[in-house]
Amino acid sequence: MNRPPLVIESWTPEHPRWEKLVELIGKEGQTDWALDPYFARFSRHFLVAQRADKLVGFLMFVHWEIGPHDRKAPKLQLSGETLTEAKVLAFGVPKPFRRQGVGRALQERTIERARELGCYQVRSVSEVDHGDNHQLKLSLGFAVEPMERPTPTFAFIMPLRDR
Ligand SMILES: CC(C)(COP(=O)(O)OP(=O)(O)OC[C@H]1O[C@@H](n2cnc3c(N)ncnc32)[C@H](O)[C@@H]1OP(=O)(O)O)[C@@H](O)C(=O)NCCC(=O)NCCS
Repeated sequence: MNRPPLVIESWTPEHPRWEKLVELIGKEGQTDWALDPYFARFSRHFLVAQRADKLVGFLMFVHWEIGPHDRKAPKLQLSGETLTEAKVLAFGVPKPFRRQGVGRALQERTIERARELGCYQVRSVSEVDHGDNHQLKLSLGFAVEPMERPTPTFAFIMPLRDR
């Protein structure tokens, strides 16, 4: 099928179509994560996937120090540098647009942006019943750690530095 090309942009709340994104995030049931005011104090990144004028997916990550902001862990340093990460907090593609490469493109753009920002890693956490998300992450080469938090979840981590 001939689809309009996929375009991924980075939006801020000043974007003229911001309310459309808020609406989409709401429809996908991810408002509590993507728009939680707690995260507004960090550097938030909203990636928006579009075909023609249609919003076909989104991903939100924060850029912060690894450790203290979502776990009670101290900051980590390597050779005097405090290590940061892109932590993905919201990610969704509406059903009619799934299995068309939108999710993969959003993840790949996140990895690219995280490298540009100097991040040590990209990380996310996913409930065990999000099998489509897990398949996508594994097919991209993410490492996985099963966790209990307090229900079973998987953490997915992509290191970005060469050895
Ligand atoms: C996870 C999600 C964003 C994936 O978006 P998508 O646009 O369908 O993903 P893609 O089309 O880029 O899929 C890329 C690859 O992931 C894997 N994959 C994705 N969905 C899959 C499924 N249902 N079953 C098996 N593999 C799947 C496949 O390897 C796929 O490649 P292929 O289509 O060439 O086989 C989407 O399914 C979604 O919004 N799910 C509900 C919300 C969610 O779980 N969000 C993440 C956690 S909060």
